[in-house]
Amino acid sequence: MKTISKRILLGVSGGIAAYKSAQLARLLYRQGADVRVVMTISATRFVTPLTFQALTGHPVHTTLLDEHQENAMGHINLARWADLLLVAPATANVLAKFSQGLADDLLSTLYLAAECPVFVAPAMNQAMWAKPATRENLQRLKNHGVTVLGPEQGEQACGETGPGRMLEPETICRLLFPSANGAPLQGKKVLITAGPTREPLDPVRYISNRSSGKMGYALANVAAKFGAEVTLISGPVALPAPAGIKVLSVETAQQMYDAVLAQAHRHDIYIGAAAVADYSPAAVEKEKIKKHADELLLPLQKTRDILAAVAALPDKPYTVGFAAETEDLALHAQKKLQRKNLDMIAANWVGRESGGFDSDRNALSVFWQGGHCQLEMADKRVIAEQLLDLIAERINAKSTA
Ligand code: C5P
Repeated sequence: MKTISKRILLGVSGGIAAYKSAQLARLLYRQGADVRVVMTISATRFVTPLTFQALTGHPVHTTLLDEHQENAMGHINLARWADLLLVAPATANVLAKFSQGLADDLLSTLYLAAECPVFVAPAMNQAMWAKPATRENLQRLKNHGVTVLGPEQGEQACGETGPGRMLEPETICRLLFPSANGAPLQGKKVLITAGPTREPLDPVRYISNRSSGKMGYALANVAAKFGAEVTLISGPVALPAPAGIKVLSVETAQQMYDAVLAQAHRHDIYIGAAAVADYSPAAVEKEKIKKHADELLLPLQKTRDILAAVAALPDKPYTVGFAAETEDLALHAQKKLQRKNLDMIAANWVGRESGGFDSDRNALSVFWQGGHCQLEMADKRVIAEQLLDLIAERINAKSTA
């Protein structure tokens, strides 16, 4: 396992999930990170500072105006020291304070003073999570560059069920440092599709879509970095061919189907990141279609579903699909997971906020049989690392089950 040579400031605020942060501090410490803990006063009612001191080997900071601690390392110095600020659990109150720039205790002051990347792992009752004030605070924080990890769905300490449960310490660790596991796809063969397809109407025109191929190319690059042997089947894109990766260029959905089906059985993982045309012109005119009538109707026929065909193979690779949705994202994604017999599906909103098609950033809701994880808006490279790490984890869970 690769070690994390980072100075991590772990902020613990007052929620019941604070007990999980003791495990988180230990995990980060074990992986080689230098961890200093800052607790809010209410967090100290759930877990004692001594617990964190014993786990990290350093005194815990709790107050803004502590003469001893000011002498040793004032809050500005502490903020300067950190390579990364992680707040877990982040209560609704802490998120509200951060989003408004309040600085009435050590943790909120550190947040304002910090110039390093900031991650928050929210934990709260599902109704508090759903409240417009919390949604707005989160959106503000995301706009300010904060990365939000989780929360996940499930049973809550208050007895209710829904979103708001803090991610497990292992998941937070993995999302923060996807490559800390070295090469989690070493020895695996990964087949990835990327980009749009082009469906010709005549010698000069085609039907296509806005896919840039950036997500699929990021996945191919990261899969190679994770130790996999990668084959990328790409529709027409304006991206440089990734170094050290076998790229097969195709144009139409049928060509992509043929290329994928010829390769799939040789691979352990298939990721269908391409935006394959669902319909193509029933006939391709040999000559350029002339401009005569006021209205032109084009008969289209359904293309073959590549993803479903791979998932139906007798010895199918671990099959991951993408779903671009404009409504009821979770419902449609989960239905698609079942209908196409996939192992995992990564769904994103299109036509809403930034991200998705033709953007450098993306956010994904990932579903697999019996599990779900939210990958918050980030650079597509970061999203690719997190998604491939989840895939590696699921494959390893499968092989050890
Ligand atoms: O059903 P829908 O088109 O929304 O599913 C999207 C997923 O299916 C993507 O992973 C895409 O690559 C794949 N797909 C495919 N072949 C098609 C259409 C979509 O592999 N003809």
